[in-house]
Formats: sequence, C-alpha cells, structure tokens
Amino acid sequence: MKYTYSSKNIEEIVNTKIAGVSIRRQKKIEYLNAGDGKKTLVIGVPKDDKMNRRKFVVLVRNIVKKTKDDGVKKIAVNADELFGLLPDFTKEELAELIATNFEMANYEFNQYKTKPEEGWNGIEEVIIVGVVPAKLQEFFRRGKLIGEEVNKTRTLSNMPGSAMTPTVLAHKATEAAKGLPVKVKILHDKDIKKLKMGAMIGVGQGSTEPSKFIVMEYMGGGVGQKPIVLVGKGVTFDTGGLNIKPDDHMLGMNMDMSGGAAVIHTIALAARLKVKRNIVVLVPAVENSPSGHAYRPGDVLKSMSGKTIEVLNTDAEGRLILADALTYAKRYNPILTVDVATLTGAIIMALGEECSGIFTKDDELAVQTAILAERSGDYVWRMPLWEEYEAYIKSNVADIANIAHKGPYASTGGGSITAAAFLYAFAKDISGTWMHIDIASRMTAISNENLAKGAVGAPVRLLLKLVEEYKK
Ligand code: BES
Ligand code: MN
Ligand code: ZN
Repeated sequence: MKYTYSSKNIEEIVNTKIAGVSIRRQKKIEYLNAGDGKKTLVIGVPKDDKMNRRKFVVLVRNIVKKTKDDGVKKIAVNADELFGLLPDFTKEELAELIATNFEMANYEFNQYKTKPEEGWNGIEEVIIVGVVPAKLQEFFRRGKLIGEEVNKTRTLSNMPGSAMTPTVLAHKATEAAKGLPVKVKILHDKDIKKLKMGAMIGVGQGSTEPSKFIVMEYMGGGVGQKPIVLVGKGVTFDTGGLNIKPDDHMLGMNMDMSGGAAVIHTIALAARLKVKRNIVVLVPAVENSPSGHAYRPGDVLKSMSGKTIEVLNTDAEGRLILADALTYAKRYNPILTVDVATLTGAIIMALGEECSGIFTKDDELAVQTAILAERSGDYVWRMPLWEEYEAYIKSNVADIANIAHKGPYASTGGGSITAAAFLYAFAKDISGTWMHIDIASRMTAISNENLAKGAVGAPVRLLLKLVEEYKK
C-alpha cells in the first residue's frame, strides 16, 4: 500500500477511482453514492458506543476490508477524523495503529488461486487527507512496515506443508534478512548431531525432510550489550508422529511453524526499524512424521542439556525441539529469552481464540508484556507457572517426561501449564529472565476481527514492542 498526503478536502479528491471514507455517529456502515460514480464509505460509530483501542483496530480494518472487497483501489481518509475517535491517544500511536491495521486488513493469501481477469482485490493507495507533518508521516511509515512484516509471517504460516519444509523455512529466513544487517546461519543434520541436540533429532527422525536449526543475529545494540533471544517453534507439519492426530485435528498443522515465522520476521522488522538492541533468533525446524524411523512412545531422548526425556507422547513434539533450542540460547548470555510456539490445543480450551497465553516467573515482565500486548493488538493473558506443576511431568525412567503422566493427574487438564513447566526445566539454566508464549490460540483469525481467514501473524507486533521497550 502506497501512502500519499494531501491538504485538500476529501470531497475535492473523491472521483470515480478514489473512494472517500468518512466517520459518522450512526449505526449503519454504508456507501454514499453520488450517482456520478463517486463513492464514499461511511463508517458508522453509534453515538452511545464508547470507543477504545481494541474497537478502533477493528474499525480501521473494516475501512480497508469493505472498500477492497468492493474492488476499490484507492481510498482517501481524513486522519483527523480517525484521531478524533480517541482524543486521549497520541496521534503518533494512532497513525502507527492505522497503518499497521490497514496493511493487515489488505492481506489475502492468493498464491494458490488462479488470478481473476480483473486481478486481485486490494487497496493500492491510501491518501491521507489533512495536516500531516513529516514527523507524523514517519509513524504511518512505521506502521506500514510493521503490517508488511506481519503479513510475511502470515504467508509463511499459510503455505501448505508440502511447500513449507524445514529446508524452505531456512531459505525463507535467509530471504527475510536479505539487504538487512542480520546474519543468518543454518545448522544442518551433522551440525545438529555434533551439538548433541538429541530431542530435536528424535522429533525429526521420522521424516524424509532433513531438520534445520536456524540462527539469526542482529547487533543493533552494539558490542557488549546482552541480547534478547527469541526462540520460535518451527514444526513445518505436525502429524502427531506415531501418536498420530485423529480425524480433523491434523488439518491446519502446516501452521505449526507459526512461532518460527513470527520470530524470523520480528528480527527483520527490528532491523528495518533500526532498533537499538541486540537480538538473536533461534528456530528449530522439523517435520513430525510417523514412519519406520520415527521416534516412539516410551523412547528416551538425551537432550542437548544432558537431561534425558521420556517420550510419553510423540505429539508433544514442540516442547522437545524447544528444549534443545533453549539450551542453545545459553551461549548468548541473554538478558531475556522469549519462546513463541503453537504449543498446545489446551490453551484454546483455556482462553478461546482471543489471546495467547504467557508464562513466566517474572512478575514485572508479565505486567509489562500485558501492557505492550494491549498497545500492539497481540493480546495475551497470563497463566500460572507454579512449582506444583513440576510434579506432573516427573518420569519413572528418565529425568523428565514430555507430558503429564497418567496416574493421579490423569486427565486433570492443565496441558498448557505442564508444557510450560517442561520448558522451564530447560529455560531455568539460561541467564536473565524467560517467558513462554503459547500462540496456538492465535494461530488463525476469528471471524469478527476483520482479517482474512488463515494465519494472523501473532505475536510479531508484541515482540517488536518488547525488543524496543523491554526494561525501558
Ligand atoms: N501443535 C500442537 C498444538 C496445537 C493444537 C496447535 C491445535 C494449534 C492448534 C502440539 O504439538 C500438540 O500436538 N499438542 C498436543 C499435546 C498433547 C499430546 C499433550 C495437544 O495439544 O493435544
Ligand atoms: Mn503435536
Ligand atoms: Zn505441534
């Protein structure tokens, strides 16, 4: 989407090619057709409707969604009219929100569809009307960059499993960093073996696709600054392995690398925005497949940390590959490590699809993350990470089990929490503080958020704010 700025009135700009947008205190959303081919989309905001940031985001998306679906290519928007909906917010914050959400609403995943004769729908140009000083234009630009990187995340996630293998994900990481001061290193089978990443090897061994371990480094903070490490689950397809997923549970598991995609595009975004922070991204990329070579229920894996893991269920694979990635993170001596993963179906049971679950022992970090989440639009809710849950994943034969044992805790629930407790057993050896974000609940769009069906690109917007503002 291209942005241009104009000090004319909307009425002077609107023509048969450019649709106007106007906000009115009314119930309906409608087009005003002047009869001469000129169109103005009226976004209604009922008088008694108290506006807030969350509603603002949905409304802003609706502007693009409605006009785009109508074949409109150019829209003229009065920025002050939009700013006026939230008078207590800074124009800078709102400009960023508008541009990010315009971009997100304009996205469609069309790669596998035949192009219609009239081309794809989509807004090509946004004309911002009113007095917009250069400094404020910067925030539109910033918002647009954020939206673009979120959309690239969505594309990686939306790709079918056959097209998005660990090898392809590694290529995509290299592509994401192209032209940016981001170093990319891909570790292959023999490197992974040399590092003794036994948990990751176990998960990947059933597949004919070789596993890859993706490392990205951005040194925006200069030498000596301790980095933030972002770890993303990169399961490019999750069949469940020998504990194969039943009926329709497997559909959509091409998106099980969404955490990996998110951290890859977060570091690219941070580099684009010249964030003054050292950032490292780690993505263990594997396919979880059943075969004669697959790891089995009951197998004991020796993780890179030295800890042995009893595999009670091969479908709890995400935490296994993350365990080795968290151990790898130790070498960076980070101030903060955050892992992002479509880790458990149980988080959807707990939270629905409105937000991701966060898990950390660090109260201050949990509070800051909740605030940044609200500002970014990547909503989160804190879940417990109490010591009591560690008892659930004791193993009879190894140091730890990958799921809660049948026994006193059988079917007692809390699957997201025991998964987090498992990760903590590995994360506690890393310097600094740690947080786990379970994004299984934000993997795909819900119908009322005015985004295309499929991947949503969570939590790139939140992670950007976190690397920009952590402890600042
Ligand atoms: N990738 C899944 C979790 C998931 C489920 C993500 C639905 C998005 C939507 C994960 O690897 C998994 O299979 N988890 C199991 C854990 C169980 C075996 C303890 C689950 O949630 O059922
Ligand atoms: Mn699984
Ligand atoms: Zn999975």
